Amino acid sequence: MEITVTKTTAPKAKPPVDALGFGKHFSDHMFVMDYTEGKGWHDARIVPYGPLQLDPSCAVLHYGQAVFEGLKAYKDANGNVLLFRPYSNMNRLNQSNDRLCIPQIDVEFAVGAIKKLVELEQDWIPESPGTSLYIRPFIIATDPFLGVHPAQTYKFIVILSPVGSYYKEGLNPVKIFVEDEFVRAVRGGMGFSKTAGNYAASLKAQEVAETKGYSQVLWLDGVERKYIEEVGAMNIFFKIDGKVITPMLNGSILAGITRDSSIQILKSWGVPVEERKISAEEVFEAHKAGKLEEVFGTGTAAVISPVGELCWKGEKITINNGEIGATSQKLYDTITGLQSGKIEDTFDFVVRL
Ligand code: PLP
Ligand code: COI
Repeated sequence: MEITVTKTTAPKAKPPVDALGFGKHFSDHMFVMDYTEGKGWHDARIVPYGPLQLDPSCAVLHYGQAVFEGLKAYKDANGNVLLFRPYSNMNRLNQSNDRLCIPQIDVEFAVGAIKKLVELEQDWIPESPGTSLYIRPFIIATDPFLGVHPAQTYKFIVILSPVGSYYKEGLNPVKIFVEDEFVRAVRGGMGFSKTAGNYAASLKAQEVAETKGYSQVLWLDGVERKYIEEVGAMNIFFKIDGKVITPMLNGSILAGITRDSSIQILKSWGVPVEERKISAEEVFEAHKAGKLEEVFGTGTAAVISPVGELCWKGEKITINNGEIGATSQKLYDTITGLQSGKIEDTFDFVVRL
């Protein structure tokens, strides 16, 4: 399928690098294609960035039939454009599509569309350390129909946002609230999918945690509220007594691509990594025994985010004196080094334009 390009006649001014934040600014163009049952995906196009026209009855607005992804583009020192693991994101989009009854996309075509859009918008890739061009592909159900049923028409859209750090803390450790009342997902639900409803379900706990001074919540399993799952926008790792432990993929957490990259990198250094069930109690006991060395989150937006404080059932613990630990720092340097082409990519993570 050919991708047509209609260029904007009113290019926007680029935001200053110190005003980037996360997800506040958008580039000049977006990619759009439509799906119609019986016809498949069609009308692939790059058009000026702008509002969508949707019927007020359209399915996504009522029943949340929507999926999304998040990945980043960088420039190396020679100005080449690099994408970090775009095939993994598009494969995961198809897993989310399957759970939400949304038709599959052609992974190769979707990566090609992202490449074409990013190539056109490459002047929007910020180049200072800690910045990148965040890519947000998403699919929404557009049927004008109020029955609860998988839609027959969809839009696949890709928008681009130049970003700095996700948390106002930057690489400084964040404070995380271990949530033991609200739950995000249960086994058999949609936890493993990147779908709008999971984030809607997370807002209340997030709001309460913020009023208590915490950046995000750490979710516990939805059945026993005992085992650690993930943070609002990242997976979570604990370094205990020299070993790195992260909750195993169990169907209710997102299979993070930064999580997978971190596991591969840690293993390549000879660090023992365990993917298993880990309870909040085990973490707090390890802290009491002086064995909890580091806690960090991993995510595309958050990259590697050290955790300096955890609060669970009123008990607060400070991790590594509230400072970034050596493993978190080395992992951050390595991942950002691979992403920006400063470190040779022996993992095959990076796709060049
Ligand atoms: N968990 C949740 C709920 C997320 O929203 C994200 C962000 O994408 C992650 C984990 C980390 O996933 P990834 O590393 O693929 O960005
Ligand atoms: C990402 O890291 O790409 C995310 O999707 C996290 C969040 C902004 C929802």
